Amino acid sequence: MIAIGIDIGGTSIKGAAVTKEGKVLDVFTLDVLKGDTQEKVVNSLIDIVNEYIKKHRYKKEEILGIGCGVPGSIDSVNGVVSYSNNLRWSELPIVEMMEKGTGLPVRITNDANAATFGEAKFGAGKDYKNIIMLTLGTGVGGGIVANGELYEGNQGKGAEMGHTVIVIDGHECTCGRKGCFETYASATALIRDTKLAMEKDKSSLMWEEADKLGKVDGRVAFNAERRGDKTAHEVVENYIKYLSEGILNFANIFRPEAVILSGGIANEGDYLTKRLDAYCAKENYGYKGTPKFEILVSKLGYDSGKIGAAALFFK
Ligand code: BGC
Repeated sequence: MIAIGIDIGGTSIKGAAVTKEGKVLDVFTLDVLKGDTQEKVVNSLIDIVNEYIKKHRYKKEEILGIGCGVPGSIDSVNGVVSYSNNLRWSELPIVEMMEKGTGLPVRITNDANAATFGEAKFGAGKDYKNIIMLTLGTGVGGGIVANGELYEGNQGKGAEMGHTVIVIDGHECTCGRKGCFETYASATALIRDTKLAMEKDKSSLMWEEADKLGKVDGRVAFNAERRGDKTAHEVVENYIKYLSEGILNFANIFRPEAVILSGGIANEGDYLTKRLDAYCAKENYGYKGTPKFEILVSKLGYDSGKIGAAALFFK
């Protein structure tokens, strides 16, 4: 038996059949164009899922259902995307639409909660009872496993660690508040700060690195820093400071054994986690007498969301 797991993002949607052992089979991708209405995106998704099932000759009887991870405030009980700050979707009855369109049972949850569930069941969180996960992308998603159970809070809309304020009156957030953690620790924030620093220092190696990549993304400052660039070092240090302070805040609440990071920035691996660890160690992993936690990079990488969404049917 399999389930189809779908990870919905702002620029692309990725899905795959996933086995009960957490193995990802063939992947499909749907690019989302700016300006596409929420209904248009869901209808295209229904078409691509139906084609995928046909192409791979999956029998409907062997598919337990379709799980979707969606960014934003998700009403998983009624199957509605209440509001997605990143996708700009609201009051979208996605479960009803997809069940009608595919003839299969459909479940939804927040994208980061799906990723955390996947990572806890099959990935870097497998050996721990208390973990928090932070997905560092366009926004910052959060997920919590407490005493071995995924904790989603009232209406399944909890664990929004990206929307905890870290700077009063700080940067404006897409959620409507100011100074949210995600406006300092997301890839979007790192890119904003990289671009600002590049404008101020035209001789920075970040310009070369951006040229090589053809764009400014989350890697530019890290790559230039590795080559000894001082301005890039300041950008990275600043990023590490905010990310660490957020992690320490969450550690004080949840006292996890491990903190798992995912997203493009997490691809920096040890280069990133060692420095976060040093910062958190200096701050006694929270406050004095509190235990060390591991800072780990996701094991399932970009698959964690798909696997976790599919696993909504493996509970
Ligand atoms: C959204 C969250 C989501 C996260 C990662 C945030 O901006 O509000 O719901 O989990 O981005 O996509």
